[in-house]
Amino acid sequence: MSSDDLTPRKIVEKLDQYIIGQHKAKRAVAIALRNRWRRQNVSAELGEEISPKNIIMIGPTGVGKTEIARRLAKLDNSPFIKIEASKFTEVGYVGRDVESMVRDLVELSVGMVKSEEQGSVRTKAAELAEDRLLDVLLPPKPQEKKVMDMIADGNGTTLPAEYVPEQESTREKLRRFLREGRLDSRFVEIEVNEVRSTPMIEIFSSAGMEDMGLNVKEMLGNLFPQKKKKRRLKVPEALEILSEEEAQRLVDMEKVTRTAIERVEQSGIVFLDEIDKIVGSDQTQGPDVSREGVQRDLLPIVEGSTVNTRYGMVKTDHILFIAAGAFSATKPSDLIPELQGRFPIRVELNSLGKEEFIRILTEPHNALVKQYIEMMATEGVRITFKEDAIAAIAETATLVNDRMENIGARRLYTIMESLLDEISFEAPEMKGQEVVIDADYVAKQLDAIVEDEDLSRYIL
Ligand SMILES: Nc1ncnc2c1ncn2[C@@H]1O[C@H](COP(=O)(O)OP(=O)(O)OP(=O)(O)O)[C@@H](O)[C@H]1O
Ligand SMILES: [Mg+2]
Repeated sequence: MSSDDLTPRKIVEKLDQYIIGQHKAKRAVAIALRNRWRRQNVSAELGEEISPKNIIMIGPTGVGKTEIARRLAKLDNSPFIKIEASKFTEVGYVGRDVESMVRDLVELSVGMVKSEEQGSVRTKAAELAEDRLLDVLLPPKPQEKKVMDMIADGNGTTLPAEYVPEQESTREKLRRFLREGRLDSRFVEIEVNEVRSTPMIEIFSSAGMEDMGLNVKEMLGNLFPQKKKKRRLKVPEALEILSEEEAQRLVDMEKVTRTAIERVEQSGIVFLDEIDKIVGSDQTQGPDVSREGVQRDLLPIVEGSTVNTRYGMVKTDHILFIAAGAFSATKPSDLIPELQGRFPIRVELNSLGKEEFIRILTEPHNALVKQYIEMMATEGVRITFKEDAIAAIAETATLVNDRMENIGARRLYTIMESLLDEISFEAPEMKGQEVVIDADYVAKQLDAIVEDEDLSRYIL
């Protein structure tokens, strides 16, 4: 869908396909996304002045915060990255600059744009690959070369290809065979670029070099010429590899980089998870990096600054930040004031109960119940869920969430897994059977676990 059509209402509709409830949060992110489109359509001068309205999503664990942000990014192909804010406070990350998130985002965007570009040159690449393969299948014969030399004119230039019609027609015949798949079982030997393995260099590069925006692996890699390797392959496989190589060659990396950076600057989304973990007093911190320190480090990026990446400078002014946190012991107002101002929109997500669980189990495009039905179908086993079963599962999830820790919709995963444990194991031997899962079945599978508190602590 083009972003022109992505009105807030449409965005919410799209999110509704995956996330149940949480209407306020959906509305807020929909408006934020639309505002970006609006900003791109006002005069460039004013557009520069309009800053994104960053959002804080507040809500308990497992109620859809991450899911909303992730689905949002997919809607308009925005480069999207999810970061745990708390990781910047950990001992191992002392001094690790928060700018690395922007570098990661650019890296991701380059990957996205590159594969799009490769897709758009696919036809051309396939043609070139076909020619390369035909060259291998039908190398110019030595005698014919001599003939060509003989008929070369006085200036030493050979005559045009029409003068050797025989070879050409054999080639076209072969091309036809190739396209008709008549050569599919033949083997050919082709030269392919060797995949470089540089395991040792990996160790160096993770030790903080990336923070300088350098890619040691690539630098060292470029010192050695690209190695070629002969491989014996079946024709279709060879074609695929050659197409891949041709596609890489056809893509203009400079253009890719430019587009990728622009996309990050104009429509990047950074999802800052666990923002509540960098809020609050520093008394209990010990060796960890001070939380307020992390907030200060974040500030310039959120406020807009220029980050140096290995693809060039990236301005962060218009990147949309969506923060999320449970904020059970703290409040957004405990953030340093500068940061609060940069997150003007606050939305609360509701904790989920039985009614929501029933819908989550069945309605979303990727609903758990649909997943299990399809998975078992691959084994030739037809499972169906009765309505009372769904209700019983939702009820159990609510009960366990109340009694133990409330982990929201994630509880459904553990419960479904236990519920279908037996069928999952035995399915291959049950080919052709039909299993109806009703409330009795749910009770039979789950009651023993649910009633035993110790057991449920481990299993559910
Ligand atoms: N409202 C919802 N509708 C549909 N599915 C949901 C909903 N809430 C949660 N889920 C499912 O539960 C899982 C966990 O949700 P999600 O990752 O969004 O949790 P979260 O709110 O980010 O929690 P945390 O604070 O622990 O990060 C997801 O896989 C998602 O599919
Ligand atoms: Mg999350």
